[in-house]
Amino acid sequence: MGERKLDKSFSIKTVGIREWGDGEVHYNRYEATPYAALDKLFERYRLDKSDSVVDFGCGRGRVAFYIHNRFHVPVTGIEANDITYEEALKNIETYKLRAKHIKAPIRFKFGLAEHYEIKPEENRFFLIPFL
Ligand SMILES: C[S@@+](CC[C@H](N)C(=O)[O-])C[C@H]1O[C@@H](n2cnc3c(N)ncnc32)[C@H](O)[C@@H]1O
Repeated sequence: MGERKLDKSFSIKTVGIREWGDGEVHYNRYEATPYAALDKLFERYRLDKSDSVVDFGCGRGRVAFYIHNRFHVPVTGIEANDITYEEALKNIETYKLRAKHIKAPIRFKFGLAEHYEIKPEENRFFLIPFL
């Protein structure tokens, strides 16, 4: 199935690229991890009910939604680009309508990953190297 169709199955929109612009060299651009790569990763890397995940640089939220939907664990996404963050918030509204049966929380926070204070229960971390 294509990326857009898989997005549709979660009621989200994550396809596309966003550069930071203005010659920004410190922060990586937005580009979602391919669904096929996530499938491959989670064939071997399993999560269980006691886990709690943080996605540093969550973009529009694809990885967060994928993990939340597949493992039913709490997920927090951190995003520093204000436009991308707004898109993640739109996605969460539509996703939640579809995922009402999943009790675990999913949320996004605006800000730099390096400023996020990790909570004691957060024990699994996803990040794409920022440089
Ligand atoms: C390559 S995308 C990955 C998005 C998502 N994690 C995924 O794999 O589908 C990287 C994202 O990290 C954000 N980002 C880059 N540097 C950041 C930082 N220091 N703190 C928070 N977000 C950052 C970018 O705006 C972009 O949306």
